[in-house]
Amino acid sequence: MMRDDIQIIVKDDPGLMAHEAATLFTDAAMERVTVNDRFTAAISGGTTPGAMYSLLTQEPFISRVPWDKIHLFWVDERLVPWNHPHSNYGSAKNLFIDKIPIPESNVHPMPVEFPPESASNQYQENLMAFFDLEKGNLPCLDLIMLGMGKDGHTASLFPGQQALDEKQRLVISVQGGDPFVNRLTMTLPIINNAMTILVLVSGQGKANTIKSILEDKHTSLPVQRIRPIKGTLKWLLDREAASKLSKHWLYGKS
Ligand code: 6PG
Repeated sequence: MMRDDIQIIVKDDPGLMAHEAATLFTDAAMERVTVNDRFTAAISGGTTPGAMYSLLTQEPFISRVPWDKIHLFWVDERLVPWNHPHSNYGSAKNLFIDKIPIPESNVHPMPVEFPPESASNQYQENLMAFFDLEKGNLPCLDLIMLGMGKDGHTASLFPGQQALDEKQRLVISVQGGDPFVNRLTMTLPIINNAMTILVLVSGQGKANTIKSILEDKHTSLPVQRIRPIKGTLKWLLDREAASKLSKHWLYGKS
């Protein structure tokens, strides 16, 4: 299953994994800003990326990242008010956005004040306008950061849902997950068009799922649909999440 465009990085513990994720984010940002004078990243919710978000508010990361050139988007969002504890934007705002010198105009949260369908259309229009694209073209984000649930979902793309087969829309509304709420999610076409896709997975509770998706060719879960068209896919695991993998995957471990 190992392909040139897939890399598995295993770190000894969640803290080292978060540090590696913050380093990957910072290095990619610095490189893309040098080349393109901006860095566009879409981030996910959930608990796993929290430690990385906190590290980005501290040295050495906070002064290395060219925040004025960074644009943050969201991979998915629960349709709750931003001050609700389940809000992905609200969590990121508290954890790191309010603690870094990123211009407010560079932070692009998903709209939650509209009904699901119009909110998804609104965000899709925002993305097309930001990337200055004609209808039918795909934005290419520099980095998309994903998590994975024990059921193999990623973003808010849940097993068995039609959203997985969306080929045209960049953003759609779904219902699902825990909490089971209305959500917006980026779809596979835009996710797979990113230059770097980073999937962060931590904890023993996900070890069986990681083993299945990386080593059992009969498994078919949403996160296995993450296949970069032109970029690279990096799995960043801690040792617990990687504990059921056969040894040939385990390189880059601390
Ligand atoms: C969401 C997230 C979701 C998350 C996974 C993993 O909005 O729920 O985007 O896809 O990444 O559920 O969540 P944990 O990191 O909390 O395990």
